[in-house]
Amino acid sequence: MKSELNRRKLLSILSAGGTATILPSCATFSEYHSNTWWIKEGYAPLQEEFDRSNLRVEGEIPKHIHGLYVRNGGNFRGGNAPHYFVGDGMLHGIWFKNGKPMHYRNRWVQTSLVKDGKKMSIDKKDNMSNTSIIAYGGKLLSLMEIGFPYEINSDLSTKGVYRFDNTLEAAMTAHPKVHPTTQNLQFYGMSFFSNPFLHYREANENGEITKRIDIDLPGSSMQHDFQRTENYVIFLDLPIVFSKMKAVMGQFPYSWQGDKYRARLGLFPRTGTASDVRWFDIKTGFCFHTANAFEKKDGTVIVQLSHFKKLWVRSPYDINFPSQLYQYHIHPQKGILSEGPCDDLRVDFGFVDSRFAGIEHQKLFFSTLTPTGSQVTDPVRFSGVVCYNQQGTRLDKFTYPDEFDCGEFTFIPKSHDALEGEGNLIGFVYNRRNDTSTLDFFDAENVSIGPIARVHIGNRVPFGFHGTFVNNAEFL
Ligand SMILES: [Fe+2]
Repeated sequence: MKSELNRRKLLSILSAGGTATILPSCATFSEYHSNTWWIKEGYAPLQEEFDRSNLRVEGEIPKHIHGLYVRNGGNFRGGNAPHYFVGDGMLHGIWFKNGKPMHYRNRWVQTSLVKDGKKMSIDKKDNMSNTSIIAYGGKLLSLMEIGFPYEINSDLSTKGVYRFDNTLEAAMTAHPKVHPTTQNLQFYGMSFFSNPFLHYREANENGEITKRIDIDLPGSSMQHDFQRTENYVIFLDLPIVFSKMKAVMGQFPYSWQGDKYRARLGLFPRTGTASDVRWFDIKTGFCFHTANAFEKKDGTVIVQLSHFKKLWVRSPYDINFPSQLYQYHIHPQKGILSEGPCDDLRVDFGFVDSRFAGIEHQKLFFSTLTPTGSQVTDPVRFSGVVCYNQQGTRLDKFTYPDEFDCGEFTFIPKSHDALEGEGNLIGFVYNRRNDTSTLDFFDAENVSIGPIARVHIGNRVPFGFHGTFVNNAEFL
């Protein structure tokens, strides 16, 4: 493996304070796993880009589905697949007109890695852009948390690196949020090598960065997601931590540090400064994805997410720990935080009706996970969808038959003034028997009856990460 850097080179890189290009060797992680479940069956990457029309539909797609559904995910070029998280970004999009699917298309994000055959580096444009895609300010942005966004054209071709008119200097999370009243885009990025590790930013719909807050942390923790309410931004400083030494040695650079890195929740008053972040010690654990946060009338801040008690303990391939609906109640005035699980079902990819993001919701949705075993070599499989009320009581649940695997679902409201929860959930579903995928539609108010409609794609859509629905004619 590429970890045989000689000692002199290693020391020289470390002493350079991270200014050297030390990450390329990550593409051949020295602990590269023998059972690469992330390139098999429903995870197997496509090596072609397709365009398909005349898509077969089962059931009836609601007429209000009018726009583009697009989902991102890692799709390895060739056979080099050292970790599930580092595939080259591929977008899968379906365009709808009044409930009719017009076209399916998949395209690699044309990153500098894909276009120029480069390796991943600490240059922020050299990232795989494989995690999510958002629509904001009239732009589609493909995102991965270690680098800059890539702007995507409405036909899913790649325009290029997007840096807010060259003013974005830090990496950008794959999970930005829109503030519930200002409509500003809220996001952050992490630095790897020195404080300040955490860079909070806000931008407006004109693409102008309007706020920059840089925050010191004990280490470069992996902060995959965050939350916001009307008055607060909530950060999760949890014990999966970047190691410069591991990166230099060609190992996956993040590892579980639960025995020595304090788990903390940071409550940042949005109009404050870095010194106003109030850190609360919390039980150790990890969270990839939050579901929502809001403020109650008495000022209590509620954060709801999927929570692992631990993760990646044996290796960075070791993901078979249960993640459960979990919540934090924070009383800013009293300085008190309480926390705990709401349910024991294995869940992730939580979300609310998009119109209630950042404000008090009554319904939460998650994808459910199939326990496939406890071995490092066991794949991750999503099996269905569950709906909870605000208190975390299950309201509704659907589980697919065994030959199907799903992933993240996205909420599409029935109309802009529909009641909370009136709308549809959509997401790609893989059929193991025929090695093809469908885009499935649920009635969000009755998920237990199963999909009400599905679009047959005609090829496998490999499992990926996050999508969005762009309800906007200009994207058609
Ligand atoms: Fe994510």
